[in-house]
Amino acid sequence: MKAIKWGVDLEIGVPPIDRQHKRIVDYINMLLVLNNDNNREEIYTILQQLVDYTVSHFAFEEELMEECGYPFKKAHKLVHNLFVRKVASFVSRFENGEDITSELLITLKTWLVNHIKNDDKDYSSVVKQKMNIAKKESWFSSLISKLLNRQPT
Ligand SMILES: [Fe+2]
Repeated sequence: MKAIKWGVDLEIGVPPIDRQHKRIVDYINMLLVLNNDNNREEIYTILQQLVDYTVSHFAFEEELMEECGYPFKKAHKLVHNLFVRKVASFVSRFENGEDITSELLITLKTWLVNHIKNDDKDYSSVVKQKMNIAKKESWFSSLISKLLNRQPT
């Protein structure tokens, strides 16, 4: 299975979000390497980190959408919740000794790339608009530092 190549096609133009997405991509690529070695113990460690980080990232995104008045934030949040549930069921199958890593990696890769390119790009225009309007008021930077205080970076 090929690694995800990070590039401008995956950027949505909101720097803290792009950094967080890149980190999620790094986790997935780490899992790809570990899966080749069938290293279950390390896979489990990274898997837990990936889940924790993704949950925090979703909370960050949801708060950003809320602050920017993105009209479809409820639907977006629902998509996040369904994905978290899907991954959680993979994790419990893994904990029960099943060999699900390849199947999980295909799901993660496909879902993340589609989600960034479609759903996240969609809210990015609203956020960027707000960033431009509020540039002089340093609204965006104070919002980001407020959010970053509560989220891992
Ligand atoms: Fe999202």
